[in-house]
Amino acid sequence: TIRKIGLLIGSLRAASYSRKVAQELIQMALPGLHLEIVEIGDLPLYNEDLEQSVPEPWHRFREAIRAKDGIIFVTPEYNRSVPGLLKNAIDVGSRPYGKSVWNRKPGAVVSVTPGGLGAFGANHHLRQSMVFLNVPMMQQPEAYLSNIAACFNHPQSEDRARLDKFLKGFLEAYAAWVTETAPKEA
Ligand code: FNR
Repeated sequence: TIRKIGLLIGSLRAASYSRKVAQELIQMALPGLHLEIVEIGDLPLYNEDLEQSVPEPWHRFREAIRAKDGIIFVTPEYNRSVPGLLKNAIDVGSRPYGKSVWNRKPGAVVSVTPGGLGAFGANHHLRQSMVFLNVPMMQQPEAYLSNIAACFNHPQSEDRARLDKFLKGFLEAYAAWVTETAPKEA
């Protein structure tokens, strides 16, 4: 079976390192996993009043996530937390009440920063929301990618080779996690 996995990126920057990491994951093309970016930049800010006449981008996004067998978040940290862009997508997917698209989709998070602390705050705040939303979040290996600029500025470097090796192991563990935690067919 091929599992369809959505990649959500917490940055809109054209040169985003998070997007580069997501693209790296896509290129690894592990057998049995089909990875695809689900864009979140066009989602109107969550407002419950809009549920009366659901904005088209909300509808498109909810259907896109519903069609996935799992979700990987690749995100920077903004002020020690999840960027508003990504939090908004999580909120949009969580409603209307009782119709959350996140329920029981196997999840994982890769946090990315040019700094030294691995975007730990974003990683853990994201876990908190997803655990609440009944998403089994992979615990190990954790992915805190620090000093990420060097990896992409120097593609021949040892840092880059180490990054790719780490990401491959991460994806293999995630594939096993999806098999282990995916809802069983009735
Ligand atoms: C940042 N940045 C940042 N970095 C970090 O490690 N911890 C943080 O709390 C913050 N806070 C923060 C707030 C805001 C508003 C911005 C714009 C940036 C720096 C951030 O890691 C850096 O800009 C990354 O390159 C952003 O990720 P992308 O766009 O490269 O994916």
